[in-house]
Amino acid sequence: MKITKAVIPAAGLGTRVLPASKSVPKEMLNIVDKPAIQYLVEECAAAGITDILIITNRGKGVIEDHFDYAFELEENLRKSPAKQALYEAVHSVADLANLYYIRQKETKGLGHAILAAESFVGNEPFAVLYGDDIIYSEGRPVIGQLIDASEKYGKCACGVKTCTTEQVMKYCTLDVTPAEGNIYHVHKIIEKPAREQILSHFSILGRNVVTPDVFDMIRNTAPDPRTGEVYFSEALSTLAENDRLLAVDFIGDRYDMGDKLGILQANVEIALKHPEIGATFRTYIKELAGKL
Ligand code: UTP
Repeated sequence: MKITKAVIPAAGLGTRVLPASKSVPKEMLNIVDKPAIQYLVEECAAAGITDILIITNRGKGVIEDHFDYAFELEENLRKSPAKQALYEAVHSVADLANLYYIRQKETKGLGHAILAAESFVGNEPFAVLYGDDIIYSEGRPVIGQLIDASEKYGKCACGVKTCTTEQVMKYCTLDVTPAEGNIYHVHKIIEKPAREQILSHFSILGRNVVTPDVFDMIRNTAPDPRTGEVYFSEALSTLAENDRLLAVDFIGDRYDMGDKLGILQANVEIALKHPEIGATFRTYIKELAGKL
């Protein structure tokens, strides 16, 4: 079945980037000239996704405003011949996809947030993009790479990258066997493994394609006794144990917008590629590096 729906959970508290995220959602923090979440919506649209549900919470209404027309501003830009490109850039954001919103009323973890998407998803397989993971790719968008693998093998898929031992211990480790090229069959996932439990240095980063039966798997997941959060990784783990999950070692650069260093890396690397400021910024960075 063709995948046309995506869910973007963006209801986290963003504690790692406070105070920046106190009144501006971390998903709206800037990367060069666009808020982080616009990169995700553009990734979906470029992969053929037409309908996107963004899971928000109190104080995140500004995300909805960003994907709406801004009549007064746009009229102003439209009237000025010199500002046509800017007008297009502002106006077209609202037409990237059909956007829907629902609130996660309590911040009870990523799995709990995804449950709010059940009626939007219906009976179709769907994509999940974590709202604070930006993945920059010059070729096929990363969620498209997962969709291709999922459609070819008739399995769910998660995006993975080789991580350092420290990162693996913070995220998760996967037991995999090769399928073809950068695609693997996943047999087991261990969340936050101890060093001696590490099965591979692949960790899941920010992108998944799953089927609607994950909602039952999430409902069967007990909240973590320490944090009270319902994790999504348990559902992925169930898929893996039933031989229903692929890992795609995606082609793209991932930035963690939930982390101060990740935000800076995204800004520097994307600025270097930016058509308007890339060349000047490169000269500046080289000069700066010479002084370090
Ligand atoms: P994170 O755990 O990275 O986000 O969740 P967080 O909770 O905002 O992070 P910190 O630790 O407080 O800094 C990954 C994604 O899941 C969403 C987040 O918005 C983020 O995009 N999320 C997380 C929810 O939508 N709801 C939740 O209850 C938790």
